[in-house]
Amino acid sequence: MAKRIEDLRSQRWFAPDNMRAFAHRQRTQQTGYKRSDFMNRPVIGIINTWSDISTCHTHLRERAQFVKEGIIRAGGYPLEMPAMSLGEVMVKPTTMMYRNFLAMETEELLRSHPIDGAILMGGCDKTTPGLLMGAISMNIPAIYIPAGASLNGNFKGQKIGTGTHTRKYWDEKRAGNLSDEDWLELEAKMTRSVGTCNTMGTASSLTSMAEVLGFCLPGSATIPAADSAHQRLCSLAGERITKMVFEDLTPKSLATKEAFENAIVTYVALGGSTNGIIHLIAMAGRAGIDLPMSLFDEWARKVPVIANLMPAGEYLMEDLFYAGGLPALLTRLKDFLHLDQGNVNGRTLGENLEGVEIYNEDVIRSLENPVNDRGTIGVITGNLCPDGAVCKPSAASPHLLNHRGKALVFENHAQMNAQIDDPNLDVDENTVLVLKNAGPIGGPGMPEWGGLPIPKKLLQKGVRDMVRISDARMSGTHYGTCILHVAPESYVGGPLAFVQTGDWIALDVEKRTLNLEISDEEMAARKAAWAPPPPKFARGYGAMFSTHVTQANEGCDFDFLQGDAVIDEPEIF
Ligand code: FES
Ligand code: MG
Repeated sequence: MAKRIEDLRSQRWFAPDNMRAFAHRQRTQQTGYKRSDFMNRPVIGIINTWSDISTCHTHLRERAQFVKEGIIRAGGYPLEMPAMSLGEVMVKPTTMMYRNFLAMETEELLRSHPIDGAILMGGCDKTTPGLLMGAISMNIPAIYIPAGASLNGNFKGQKIGTGTHTRKYWDEKRAGNLSDEDWLELEAKMTRSVGTCNTMGTASSLTSMAEVLGFCLPGSATIPAADSAHQRLCSLAGERITKMVFEDLTPKSLATKEAFENAIVTYVALGGSTNGIIHLIAMAGRAGIDLPMSLFDEWARKVPVIANLMPAGEYLMEDLFYAGGLPALLTRLKDFLHLDQGNVNGRTLGENLEGVEIYNEDVIRSLENPVNDRGTIGVITGNLCPDGAVCKPSAASPHLLNHRGKALVFENHAQMNAQIDDPNLDVDENTVLVLKNAGPIGGPGMPEWGGLPIPKKLLQKGVRDMVRISDARMSGTHYGTCILHVAPESYVGGPLAFVQTGDWIALDVEKRTLNLEISDEEMAARKAAWAPPPPKFARGYGAMFSTHVTQANEGCDFDFLQGDAVIDEPEIF
């Protein structure tokens, strides 16, 4: 229902004729703004994840100025509020430990302040789901502005993608095929501009999901960070949110079951990051929607990968932008999408796709000429992963999709790191590498350790992929036959905890099965002999995280944040 200015939340802070409201108005004028600058205007909170150490978001401080100008132009009053910045590469043990922290911070910043509508600025992997989870729970009008991808990388004339080529060249260096000079040169040249990873990694997967869910102005997710179109996007979003608060177009009205299905369809067509499944489940959970993992598997079998982007394909996000961007790709998927779903611009998805053209048929393939039809995601079950595990067939090696091999077990990441390059390691290309204690609680935070390095002695023999199994995640920019997100995790006594070196493991991706070839009796005996490891944290956020984080198949949200309960408004006194 349309709102009037007197219906807005901020009026409760600023409008009353009492001492407290006097203080709110007085303190606001302390900033140098006049009474007329904020009175009887929508107050827009800009939740900005800018930080010096969040290298993908370096430009968001300056971009917030463009947002503010848009808000003021449209008659609103902007308030920038910094939130935890989760720079994927720098944060240890992993940003995933703090996604829910950012979600809580977003929700509480919006709740506790006189905010009528929000602009959410993020992009690096966990910031998108973190900001959106908080905004969905808070349920006031919000627009998401993705940071935009960095420009195409180039090394000696070859297109290089962030993450994807880091691992590729590292493997070549370890195999002795890359000089120290080249390695140094690569370090300086790999990331040419501000912005998020330019491959279809987790960042691009999630910003694309945000757009398909309707939280971004159309086209936002594919505008390169360094393009002036990004500045214009910021000011447009500022203008739009200021109008949107009167339409009461809320996050929960956008985040429907159908919108999440649209997101899944798009995700599989993009060849999105395996991380996407966890975040989409978590975001849907905030709207009270249950997204079974089987739905991802179903769509991945129906819709092939048509975005020719690394790591599954050859191009980068800048190329997708020139090819028409995400809207152009969506025109290929019209038959599968619920076109009546909404968007923050007030139009439906179908209306937003009218007249959209594709400019490069090699970047955006047709359904008849896909990049590959092995599927973006496979959801796997078996006695090793009773609650499921995932793999990315499109980024795996065809010859390993149906594989039986002997396990080589690493009890934890430190042990794996210490032993993986040992020349005496008893391993060959048929071995199945197993990493334990890397899940949500055991990692903690499911670090992106699931793409275990290939042992050096095998790299030198030319081996570039092996079957690897863990309860960890894998960077969306990586590739390989990796079985990830094994649930329940080993740290809490999932069957992965009971695998021993020398056990036979059978993987059949086509049949979606993963089994440890031991009898039920043997499994039960090993379980009985297993002792739970001591808690990871005695205090602090880590202790709260360990107590409340859910397993990968449930989205790793905190149990007390799931669901769509209406948020209480604070008392104002
Ligand atoms: Fe920020 Fe990849 S490191 S998006
Ligand atoms: Mg990543």
